[in-house]
Amino acid sequence: MKRFFINTQSLFIVFLSLLVLNVLCESETESTNLAPMEKTEKEALYSAIQGFVGKWWNGSELYPDPCGWTPIQGVNCDIFDGFWYITVLNIGPIHDNYLGCTKNSEFRRDLFEFKHLKTLSFFNCFLSPNKYSIPTQNWEKLAGTLESLEFRSNPGLIGQIARSFGGLTKLQSLVLLENGLTGELPINLGNLISLRRLVLAGNMFIGEIPASLGGLTELLIFDSSRNFLTGPLPNTFGGLTSLLKLDLSNNFLNGKLPSELGNLKNLTLLDLRNNKFSGGLTESLHEMDSLEEMALSNNPIGGSLMGFKWENLQNLVSLDLSKMGLTGELPESIAELKRLRFLGLNNNNLSGNLSPKLAALPSVSALYLNGNNLTGELKFSEWFYGKMGRRFGAWSNPNLCYPVQLMSTGHVPYGVKPCQEEVTLLNIDSKTNLGGENLSQSTSSVASLGCSICGVDGSWWDFRAKEMVSVLLLSLIL
Ligand SMILES: *[C@@H]1O[C@H](CO)[C@@H](O)[C@H](O)[C@H]1NC(C)=O
Ligand SMILES: *[C@@H]1O[C@H](CO)[C@@H](O)[C@H](O)[C@H]1NC(C)=O
Ligand SMILES: *[C@@H]1O[C@H](CO)[C@@H](O)[C@H](O)[C@H]1NC(C)=O
Ligand SMILES: *[C@@H]1O[C@H](CO)[C@@H](O)[C@H](O)[C@H]1NC(C)=O
Ligand SMILES: *[C@@H]1O[C@H](CO)[C@@H](O)[C@H](O)[C@H]1NC(C)=O
Repeated sequence: MKRFFINTQSLFIVFLSLLVLNVLCESETESTNLAPMEKTEKEALYSAIQGFVGKWWNGSELYPDPCGWTPIQGVNCDIFDGFWYITVLNIGPIHDNYLGCTKNSEFRRDLFEFKHLKTLSFFNCFLSPNKYSIPTQNWEKLAGTLESLEFRSNPGLIGQIARSFGGLTKLQSLVLLENGLTGELPINLGNLISLRRLVLAGNMFIGEIPASLGGLTELLIFDSSRNFLTGPLPNTFGGLTSLLKLDLSNNFLNGKLPSELGNLKNLTLLDLRNNKFSGGLTESLHEMDSLEEMALSNNPIGGSLMGFKWENLQNLVSLDLSKMGLTGELPESIAELKRLRFLGLNNNNLSGNLSPKLAALPSVSALYLNGNNLTGELKFSEWFYGKMGRRFGAWSNPNLCYPVQLMSTGHVPYGVKPCQEEVTLLNIDSKTNLGGENLSQSTSSVASLGCSICGVDGSWWDFRAKEMVSVLLLSLIL
């Protein structure tokens, strides 16, 4: 019985090995039969990779058939005129088992010898504190084929964008994300008319945004956030009519937002947070009717929200207008944004009463109005306060209060004082407390007393009137 078992087992193993060998041989002959690879292409591949990963790496030994039965991770091939060619080359540890780059990483000339290279990417390859720079020469050799060029998370990669990138006119995607690159953005990036994605975020680029970029009519995504860019947003950006996402947050851009931005009818994201823009809210922005997220916070834009046609931005989900030096009242038209989930208006100089319609925003889950000069009585429901908790921010509006009868429900706006505070003093037994600052204790009995005297409905002026009544009452008792 035992013998028999062992025999079947070993037989099975022999069978398996034969099968594997067979498959390997077949794929070898198949790939070589199907298409050979030019020696120059193969050697360029080995040498180019060796330049990044280190001299110890012997490609011809480890991967004798890189487009066939010994594929290299990060490398893709395709057949042109009966020969294998490299079409994709990803350098760096994209996946755990990928090769990392050596400290002495170098761009070898062989990198530019691939005749059909479409995608070239470098991830986490050039690390600090070592310094590397992008080669300035030879890029034109890839100009006929290269569609995607990516340098991502290479903090040791310094220096400027090679001007010769401007000749890569087949590029659809140029991503230079989170490297150590410096200098100005080359004007000739505007020649890359096939670009659909341009990501320059998280470097140390300086200077102005070239007006030439406004000619990239195919562009869908432009992200140059987290740099040191200065100057205005060029009005040529009105020509980026395909654009879906524009992120220029965290720079030092200034001036008024150009009215041409209103042409960006397909834009879904406009993120200009943390810049130096000024000159009031540009009226034409309401024409961007696809807009889902608008973030302009922390810019000295100033002005009022009243003249703006908020009701046109019906797709808006997130509106962040905090820290903008806004003045004037809050327009009721904001309450017509039915899809709005986030509304940040905190830390401005908004004044006047709040329309209770705001609480009726059907989708809202965070509403920040703290740090303004809003006045009068908050007329939102107990249910609203209960639902929102601290995601309704109304604190730091010294002249804002909520109706005292809400107190008994436990659902009150955080950090806001009840109206008619003085009335609450009636309930405090010890007269020695009357002079104190402690005005927060109150009971529903007092609240209803206050209301029977003052009425439920109240504007700011009612509020003043209520104060007067309570002061009168107090003096009577004393
Ligand atoms: C790789 O190994 C082969 C033999 O195994 C040797 O002939 C060749 O010179 C080596 N190449 C490099 C670049 O070290
Ligand atoms: C805007 O989006 C629509 C719908 O996706 C599309 O048909 C149209 O071509 C886009 N406009 C531009 C200028 O790309
Ligand atoms: C609001 O206005 C006052 C007086 O005009 C000014 O002192 C204050 O800095 C402003 N606050 C904000 C947050 O803009
Ligand atoms: C807040 O508004 C009141 C009147 O509503 C005004 O008297 C006061 O100056 C304002 N405070 C600031 C800092 O603007
Ligand atoms: C205010 O009330 C708190 C507790 O509610 C108490 O600890 C504090 O001493 C009071 N302060 C004054 C000035 O009465």
